[in-house]
Amino acid sequence: MSSIEVIGGKQLKGELNIQGSKNAALPVIAATILNKGTTVLKNCPKILDVYHMVKILKELGCSTSWDGNTLYVDSRNAVVTAVPEESVTKMRSSILFLGSLLGRHKEVTIAYPGGCSIGKRPIDYHLKAIKKMNVTQEFIGDNDSMIHCYSDRILGAEIFLEFPSVGATQNVILTAVLSEGTTRIFNAAREPEVIEVCNYLIAAGAKISGKGTAFIEIEGVKQLHDVEFQLSSDRIVAGTYMAAVAAAGGDVVLLNTPNLHLESTVRALRRTGCVIETTENRIVIHSRQRLLPIDVLKTQPYPGFPTDMQSQLMSVLCLAEGESTIIEDIFESRFQNVNDLRKMGAIITLDNKQNKAIITGVRELQGAVVDAHDLRGGAALLIAGLAAKGKTIICDSTSIERGYEDICRDLSAIGAQTRYCSENAAG
Ligand code: UD1
Repeated sequence: MSSIEVIGGKQLKGELNIQGSKNAALPVIAATILNKGTTVLKNCPKILDVYHMVKILKELGCSTSWDGNTLYVDSRNAVVTAVPEESVTKMRSSILFLGSLLGRHKEVTIAYPGGCSIGKRPIDYHLKAIKKMNVTQEFIGDNDSMIHCYSDRILGAEIFLEFPSVGATQNVILTAVLSEGTTRIFNAAREPEVIEVCNYLIAAGAKISGKGTAFIEIEGVKQLHDVEFQLSSDRIVAGTYMAAVAAAGGDVVLLNTPNLHLESTVRALRRTGCVIETTENRIVIHSRQRLLPIDVLKTQPYPGFPTDMQSQLMSVLCLAEGESTIIEDIFESRFQNVNDLRKMGAIITLDNKQNKAIITGVRELQGAVVDAHDLRGGAALLIAGLAAKGKTIICDSTSIERGYEDICRDLSAIGAQTRYCSENAAG
């Protein structure tokens, strides 16, 4: 089992390039099934989640290859309509093949994705919406663990989402682009990663309007065509590295940042006293003094503060001068770092009924042996380790590689003392 070691207390200084966006790459990779041709996907991050989606593409009959960070997908021979069960249960985003396979073949068999460490993560909104598009759904297999969806004609429909779910919005769009008629999504998710999959599909010939708003309209077209598409950079990776500078102190320039999409993260870090300058696709962050607390920080759908940045901000606020409150309003089990942070000397009180964490800042954290429970939580522990006195070992760090190309390389480039180490290094 891999782990990461970090010796804390080093100020961060230098320049860092931000990788391509994971949460944009995953739905776009699922969407490549729809064009029955070739996709050239530039700035694609080389991370475990992307490798996993590419493996599924191959299982479905696509051929794929890489040149640096450019991914080539040829989906002409993608004739398979069933996603292997093991591939879905391993990774939640694979549920996006529900929409793209339905769109391409009018049929899909896919396992029901289980919960994951951050919460239950049901797909009832996805299924309810797709059913309205003249799609029959049957639960099959042991314990009804698989869903078989099929239709002779997928028809446009008016869909109202109870909650602006990112995954459900993307799945409806993927199902609708090659359907008959017009689909209207009310209360659609406005996340940049929904805009990104729309931009990809539009570049391939889809007719979609309203991306980035709560009302999206998709007019079905007969077919898509070959496409070359550049993914935007990752707002959560950029936010993670900003949080690292906030906690450890220092002056860092981030390059290729998606500034428009980082607004709520920049605002939160400014409240802690960090000085942040944003120009086009570049961010300069200075953190030179004891941080200030944030009275209430609440996760919300975009453009609110992202749930994917909540753990990183918790690590930052552990060091603030005073009391902060974080409310996690998207997922029910996303405070898993609390015990590990406590091991490092953090003072945190949990109110699980209200998904609320009250953090009383301390002057200093101490290094400890901790466990990465999930992707962002693991990165957040690394942030705490950068600021802590002495050595921190983050065990089971593979989950961090799901979303960061090489977090040790990046942080070392700006002066952190961190490295991957083998299992027994923790002992
Ligand atoms: C969510 C985040 C997204 C983030 C991703 C990975 C939001 C709104 N979405 O997207 O920004 O990048 O996790 O961490 O912040 N839900 C249902 N039924 C459904 C679908 C969702 O009840 O069919 C609930 C979920 O349990 C959750 C909420 O709706 O409480 C948000 O879900 P959704 O946006 O769909 O999650 P993801 O697409 O995974």
